[in-house]
Amino acid sequence: MAAAAALLLLLCAASLASAAADDGLTTFKVYFHDVVAGTNPTAVRIAQAASSNTSSTNFGAVVAIDDPLTTGPTRAAGTEVGRAQGTYTFADQQTFGLLMVMNFVFTAGEHNGSTLSILGRNEVLSDVREMSIVGGSGKFRMARGYVQAHTIDSGATSGTTVVQYTVNVKA
Ligand SMILES: *[C@@H]1O[C@H](CO)[C@@H](O)[C@H](O)[C@H]1NC(C)=O
Ligand SMILES: *[C@@H]1O[C@H](CO)[C@@H](O)[C@H](O)[C@H]1NC(C)=O
Repeated sequence: MAAAAALLLLLCAASLASAAADDGLTTFKVYFHDVVAGTNPTAVRIAQAASSNTSSTNFGAVVAIDDPLTTGPTRAAGTEVGRAQGTYTFADQQTFGLLMVMNFVFTAGEHNGSTLSILGRNEVLSDVREMSIVGGSGKFRMARGYVQAHTIDSGATSGTTVVQYTVNVKA
């Protein structure tokens, strides 16, 4: 009887501990500015196949990015909290499906000094695209989680694509 009660206590303690561990989720939004045109582009094509220009999906092109991340949808002064640095590859022959390989490098605000490493498929014409957080550094050391990307401005007229990233991370 006493042993059974002790076991029950132990099981309760274990389930409390796992509930507490699940509470480490941090959620926040940043806005990603992919400046492909104008005098100061932050996204430049660095490689492509001979056939990329004639591909309806730019298949085979690789773009390097150092894209501003801001707290709001515009690039208003004082709102930049970091950069999205890495590459995206046009990796799909049927639709605009990008392979994103990038770090979110925080240089201001609450996460200043930390990074998040993001890897995943970005089917840019879809409303919401989910990608993995595969790691991080600083306060995000041992991070895992996911981001959800939602385009705010396609950039068709402005030359800058603006994407809202909702970050859900445990570290
Ligand atoms: C593809 O198009 C770009 C820009 O229009 C041009 O600079 C480049 O030479 C073209 N590449 C090939 C392989 O045709
Ligand atoms: C971010 O952190 C660095 C290193 O600690 C510091 O020098 C810098 O002033 C911080 N920047 C902001 C905007 O908080």
